[in-house]
Amino acid sequence: MLQFLVLGAVATVISGRYENVNVKQDWWETAVFYQIYPRSFMDSDGDGVGDINGITSRLEYLKELGVEATWLSPIFKSPMHDFGYDISDYYSIQPEYGSMEDFEQLLKKAGELNIKVILDFVPNHSSNESEWFVKSASKDEYYSDWYIWENGHLDSTGHRSPPNNWISVFRKSAWTYVASRDQYYLHQFGESQPDFNYRNPVVVEEMKNVIKFWLEKGVAGMKLNSFNHIYEVDKDSYGGRYPNEPMTGKPGLKPEDYGYLEHIYTKDQEETYDMVSQFRDVFDAITIRDNLTRIMMTEASTTIKNAVRYYGEGTHSGAHIPFNFGLIEDLDKDSDARDMKYTIDRWLTYKPLRKQANWMTGNHDTSRVASRFRSELVDAFNMLVLLLPGIAVTYMGEEIGMTNGFVPWSETKDPQACNTDDPVNFIEVSRDPVRTPFQWSNGKNAGFSHADSSWLPVAEGFEHLNLAAQRSSIRSHYQVYRTLTNLRMRPAFKYGRYESLALNNDVFAFKRWYNDDTYVVVMNVGRTYHVVNLTAFDLIFGQLEVEASSVVSSRTYSDNVQANYLDLAADEALVLRMQV
Ligand code: GLC
Ligand code: MG
Repeated sequence: MLQFLVLGAVATVISGRYENVNVKQDWWETAVFYQIYPRSFMDSDGDGVGDINGITSRLEYLKELGVEATWLSPIFKSPMHDFGYDISDYYSIQPEYGSMEDFEQLLKKAGELNIKVILDFVPNHSSNESEWFVKSASKDEYYSDWYIWENGHLDSTGHRSPPNNWISVFRKSAWTYVASRDQYYLHQFGESQPDFNYRNPVVVEEMKNVIKFWLEKGVAGMKLNSFNHIYEVDKDSYGGRYPNEPMTGKPGLKPEDYGYLEHIYTKDQEETYDMVSQFRDVFDAITIRDNLTRIMMTEASTTIKNAVRYYGEGTHSGAHIPFNFGLIEDLDKDSDARDMKYTIDRWLTYKPLRKQANWMTGNHDTSRVASRFRSELVDAFNMLVLLLPGIAVTYMGEEIGMTNGFVPWSETKDPQACNTDDPVNFIEVSRDPVRTPFQWSNGKNAGFSHADSSWLPVAEGFEHLNLAAQRSSIRSHYQVYRTLTNLRMRPAFKYGRYESLALNNDVFAFKRWYNDDTYVVVMNVGRTYHVVNLTAFDLIFGQLEVEASSVVSSRTYSDNVQANYLDLAADEALVLRMQV
């Protein structure tokens, strides 16, 4: 459908030097997206919980960072068992976050600052407190089939057991018994998150209405959560009963653990991709009407081949931005320069040639860069996210290199952690540490809230690691981040070509160029000093000038380096520009 549209505006020319640039690019295609976890960003009313007015009050900060769009984790009405990923009313705002008027105000202010707002929407499941589910549980005629209901087994001793062996992502059986129907409902996540029945066309219609409702309200797009869980296998092909999933045979796992089974019947079903395309049509209809692109982002943690199917295939259109979890899932503390090159090239290789890549190193489910790797590498990872070709996504706090917080068992809130029933090992799966409040300053609750305490404790070390400190310092992660968002406005980063090399096991480098403007981004992710030769790249020679340097570097803006002999300290990362 979209090929009939003239997309986007002519790229804005940022300085005389680039005046000949005339590439058509739509607003989202190389935008920087900033993910806000509303509960933890900014609390305006002193209840210890972040809120919408808190976000509105900090939109200027996003502007200052050079961010062009923000996506908000769910703000809809919810009992908060999974902190908004369990929605009880898809058409209203969670009262502790604010009112619809507050949200409209946020949109207005964001519009004035030219910041786009994207909402996180959960199509796979609702809350069990949603009116839809309550009615379904009582077999209301209209809602009866909205969820996946199934008979269990009752043996001669009166012992009841679930329909099959399926396990929830948050551990234990994916089935919960409801006496009013004498049946079990399916929940691929927590018990409070019943899965919708996507084989019921009425459900699909309602979900499309939800998307329309928020797009009409003025949001620039929606992020569709856990999309590869949307469908379960069609039980009619299995004699009317959902089949058991096979065991993975992975060592060290208990039968209650999600990894115990191979999820061949509950994930990545073929019908998923048609649903992506159906949802995309909803966005396109409004895009065409308004002549302004509304975007669809999808989240699916899956194999690379499945992941890129979300871009669309053949006549089926897909998501504008299917999340790329490569830098999150495929790299860890032991990864070196070769792993980085491999991970990055993998997405670029598998994605359709003409589609935009996207890069992210964190989200509200993932250990932070400073903790997953080390704090010295924060700038290097921000250079990847912001200077690789395509879209950049930053999880709040990564721009200042926040670390994971420490949340003891007694204060643990994440259902995934609570479900371990294990006061020692919960820490391995808890997502609370990456959801601690944003560190604005060295003040009370790190400047997040006036309350006596915040909903999750502030991470240790905030007295030194906070935005205010980094703003007033000449060299800080924040300053590097701002330099990078500025640099990415240049054509070489917006439209330029890309080439990468692992110069040795520790040093990863990539080149971006457009016409005669050429850059090399080089990072030593190892623990020792290295001398590298950048002339290994085609047409890199002579002198290069430093445009940006990581805080551990002794080099600063406009220093010169030799292409054929560059000494790099451990963790040093540089953005260099060829001298012409
Ligand atoms: C997504 C969210 C995660 C949530 C889950 C269930 O994976 O990122 O936070 O728990 O969906 O809705
Ligand atoms: Mg509040």
